[in-house]
Amino acid sequence: MSQDYWEHRYETKDMPWEKGEPSPGLVDFLAANPNLKRGTVCIPGCGTGHDVREFARAGFEVFGFDLAPSAIRIATEKTVAAGLKASFQLADFLKDEPAQKFDWIVEHTLFCAIQPNERDDYVRAVLRWLKPGGNYLAVNYFECGPDGPPFPTTRAEQLARFSPYFDLKADWVPRSYLNRENKERMFWWCRRPGAIA
Ligand SMILES: C[S@@+](CC[C@H](N)C(=O)[O-])C[C@H]1O[C@@H](n2cnc3c(N)ncnc32)[C@H](O)[C@@H]1O
Repeated sequence: MSQDYWEHRYETKDMPWEKGEPSPGLVDFLAANPNLKRGTVCIPGCGTGHDVREFARAGFEVFGFDLAPSAIRIATEKTVAAGLKASFQLADFLKDEPAQKFDWIVEHTLFCAIQPNERDDYVRAVLRWLKPGGNYLAVNYFECGPDGPPFPTTRAEQLARFSPYFDLKADWVPRSYLNRENKERMFWWCRRPGAIA
């Protein structure tokens, strides 16, 4: 989907993904893992920044990226209003070269928002933006109907796409927003140091 498509959705407030709070699965992950080594976190397709602020509150140095200028503007305003520190930047996660590589990439409703035929590009982008040995934490949407976005994925697809380059530390059904209960699965991957696309 183009930048114009996503910007139009923000300008017309056609944003059913906007829940006014971070992903419950990510909130629970941070609560269950309080001693994670702190570092840099990239959240691509960050929208209005709820997940960015959750990781910033937990003490990470967080960078949110989005294709839509309105998302970046709203996310920046909300973060300043919350008295939190995070960086937001306009970027195409699939195409752009990152200015730096990150210790973590946190995925939440970007993989399902791109066209299914862009998923090879998505995996290459994760490898481009993440440090060797870095963590890729994903909340993937499994049941969302064929007429996307969002477009669904499966556990088998996630394993097939990521296991050539990443070791799976854990995967589980997370707590979800009310309309997504039992429709999501989280994956915590660690990038193998030598893995290249
Ligand atoms: C379904 S929304 C999810 C927003 C946010 N993750 C959330 O859950 O509230 C998908 C977001 O990804 C952004 N997006 C789509 N393609 C992108 C790309 N190639 N690079 C960066 N952001 C992208 C859209 O502008 C939109 O904000």
